[in-house]
Amino acid sequence: MHWNKLISVLLFSGVLAALSACGGGGSSGPKTGGPSFPGPGPTAEEQVAQMRVDYNEIEGLKTLADFPIGTEVSAANQANSIFIATDQQPVLAYHFSNLVAGSIMKAPWLYPQEDEFAFDPADELVAFALANDMTMHGHTLVWHRYDWVGDRLIPEWMENYSGDWSAMLETYVHTTVEHFSGRVTSWDIVNEAVDYNGLTNTAGYRDTIFYRNIGPDYIEDAYRAARAADPDVQLYYNDYGLSSNGAKLDFTLTMLEDLLERGVPIDGLGFQMHITLDGPSAVNIEAAFRKAAALGIMVKISELDISINGRNTPPPVDWSRSPTLTAALALEQKARYKEVVAAYLDAVPPAQRGGITVWGLTDDSSWMRTIWDDEWPLLFNGDFTTKPAFHGVREALLEQ
Ligand code: GLA
Repeated sequence: MHWNKLISVLLFSGVLAALSACGGGGSSGPKTGGPSFPGPGPTAEEQVAQMRVDYNEIEGLKTLADFPIGTEVSAANQANSIFIATDQQPVLAYHFSNLVAGSIMKAPWLYPQEDEFAFDPADELVAFALANDMTMHGHTLVWHRYDWVGDRLIPEWMENYSGDWSAMLETYVHTTVEHFSGRVTSWDIVNEAVDYNGLTNTAGYRDTIFYRNIGPDYIEDAYRAARAADPDVQLYYNDYGLSSNGAKLDFTLTMLEDLLERGVPIDGLGFQMHITLDGPSAVNIEAAFRKAAALGIMVKISELDISINGRNTPPPVDWSRSPTLTAALALEQKARYKEVVAAYLDAVPPAQRGGITVWGLTDDSSWMRTIWDDEWPLLFNGDFTTKPAFHGVREALLEQ
């Protein structure tokens, strides 16, 4: 056990002692030394209350891992920008070793006009990360969307572009990666290039504006342009549904294998993992990580969040949404975070761990809140106290 882990155990022993004084948590092992009569354990509400501590009353998550522990942030003049809501800054520096921008390193921000790159907002964020001992993950250069909110897409000029698409893509990727060279450690170069129209559909390339204008070669062109611009930065392919849709995973891995065999510089695969309490199963998640790791590339959990009210299981299973984050749901979410992190640690060899990134700091800042009020997908409450979900991640890291 690492020293920092031992210290962690001691630091949080107050909570553990409190739990055992109340009759033990649900997962305590058999007791020894004579007959014992299990009393009523702490209620779910009591357990949640005991796990709610100020962010700096417990060790930083990043101290528990030998790989990057990241989170997504807003920046520039965005509503929840870390440069406006600055009280996020010490929390980020305390718990995380890696940052990723939710929006400001996507095409509309970086390349707003055909003849204009705009790097200032991203430069400000990268400088913040580096000044606070965090690395920076760039996200994401080649994506056919901008965000889910209001269905925003790539910059308008790009949508209407009628020139040489291959040359334009090369300029975009090369100029951007070169600009951040030496400061950004890893990039999602292409995001969501594989189709996914439901569990029964056969996967294939997604019909995006890049695909339509260049054909599937846009993928390899983008990676080659990135590598030419920075020989050292790690280059990821990033996608969703990889642990819930076997056909999509297989297509993706075959695609990556083919690219690698042909010398296309791809270093890793990012599993987004916007998942729910009921799926995909930990068994499927772990199997998917193993398959990806078998390619010998880095494997990263790139956008982890766990929806409380989303469902993977189709009706007639109960689809009613809970209007509050009940203690029972919070504990379920904790167990789910724990099994996902444990699956990652079991399946991905240390040298191939690209890291684990949660998609946001506090529940109220999550992208899900722009769509649903009744979602609590992340690790921290709005006041930066820890949720049970935080402890799920923490326990899995401690037990590795
Ligand atoms: C996708 C994208 C992210 C983010 C999320 C949620 O997963 O890769 O950049 O937009 O959706 O909003």
